[in-house]
Amino acid sequence: MKKIAWMLGLAGMLAVGAAAAADGKAVYDATCSGCHSAMAPKIGDKAAWAPRIKKGVAALTASVMKGKGAMPPKGGAASEAEVRAAVAYLIGRAK
Ligand code: HEC
Repeated sequence: MKKIAWMLGLAGMLAVGAAAAADGKAVYDATCSGCHSAMAPKIGDKAAWAPRIKKGVAALTASVMKGKGAMPPKGGAASEAEVRAAVAYLIGRAK
């Protein structure tokens, strides 16, 4: 009995993890931070992000989906929803 309760608890935790997949910070930390914590445009660098923020979330998401310069398509993320969430997080950190 105890074992079943434990397994149900684990399943619940996994479900929460999947629901948080489009959490911008989580996507950023897992997928984008390798580059954007180390090279331009760096997270939190207001001067680097100001001209990009002006384009808006939709245009930046489209740009990441295509890939740009050294950035691979989707920035390595799994879906457009993840890219959009991570872009919103990056913008929030640069304001
Ligand atoms: C392999 C390194 C790398 C990864 C991984 C990466 N980026 Fe980038 N990113 C770059 C570089 C380099 C640029 C600058 C491209 C340029 O302007 O030529 C950039 C530019 C951007 C821009 C600005 C695009 C524009 O049109 O000016 C956004 C937004 C962005 N990245 C978001 C993300 C997000 C969100 C992720 C994760 C899902 C991510 N990046 C993952 C390297 C990376």
